[in-house]
Amino acid sequence: MTDRYAVIGNPIAHSKSPEIHAAFARQTGQDLSYERLLAPLDAFAATAMRFAREGGRGANVTVPFKLEAFALAREVSARAQHAGACNTLAWRGTHWYGDNTDGVGLVRDLAANLGVSPAGRDILVLGAGGAGHGILGPLLATGPRSLVISNRTAARAEELARLFAADGPIVARTFGELGTRRFDLVIDATSANVTAADDIDAAAPLPWPETLFAPGALAYDLKYAVEPTVFVHWARQHGAARAVDGLGMLIEQAAESFLLWRGVRPDTAPVFALLR
Ligand code: ATR
Repeated sequence: MTDRYAVIGNPIAHSKSPEIHAAFARQTGQDLSYERLLAPLDAFAATAMRFAREGGRGANVTVPFKLEAFALAREVSARAQHAGACNTLAWRGTHWYGDNTDGVGLVRDLAANLGVSPAGRDILVLGAGGAGHGILGPLLATGPRSLVISNRTAARAEELARLFAADGPIVARTFGELGTRRFDLVIDATSANVTAADDIDAAAPLPWPETLFAPGALAYDLKYAVEPTVFVHWARQHGAARAVDGLGMLIEQAAESFLLWRGVRPDTAPVFALLR
């Protein structure tokens, strides 16, 4: 029987995960199906449990349910435990096992596809939601010179800086406190500005300083869209040497999830070419 997988989110119609996993399955000869599941905002756990009862073997979890997925999982990987968020669930017969492949996906996209090592660099992470939780551990593990986390709600950034203090040089700052400090790598991990840049006139002005980018800086939007996203467009206008969206990370985190589920790691390069 064909094994069932899904991506659960709200909204979910735009998700590219089904195309990515279908391409991985073709490439590796694995017999599986992968669908989109829209969960009501107040019913993530019920949706995931029903999917398991109906034969679901694994799921990816996206906005806004990564923290709820962590709460639902009865067993989690060390990296999910540390992140406090899950983007990947695997059914273990009686319960969901939770993992978080976002951070390794990001670091792999930076290193393998973009040729960027965060080691020794000054990094800024904008946003302290579910996406921010997942990337801090793996980013700090690369050995940056500094990592500033900045969030609209200051308390959430301070909480993450406390949680990850033992992993490396992380501090919390408000958007205002960023002042004229410049960074080599600026990551937008907020869920703001989800419209594509052709709607840029309709988008609200970005709430952080326009002086963020050091010479040669890379701007990285964890979101993806038909390029460019609002943040990518803004970063190119304000001095980033390069600006990319999160399609590479999406594909790399998907490959790590596929490895967890199927025991085989697909080759990501042809899938990136296919989708871009
Ligand atoms: P996700 O799992 O995608 O991170 P989330 O947990 O809802 O989703 O977090 C969304 C993030 O985007 C948060 O950091 C949020 O800031 P707050 O903690 O202050 O809510 C940020 N965010 C959302 N809309 C924003 C906006 N208009 N301006 C700035 N930050 C915004």
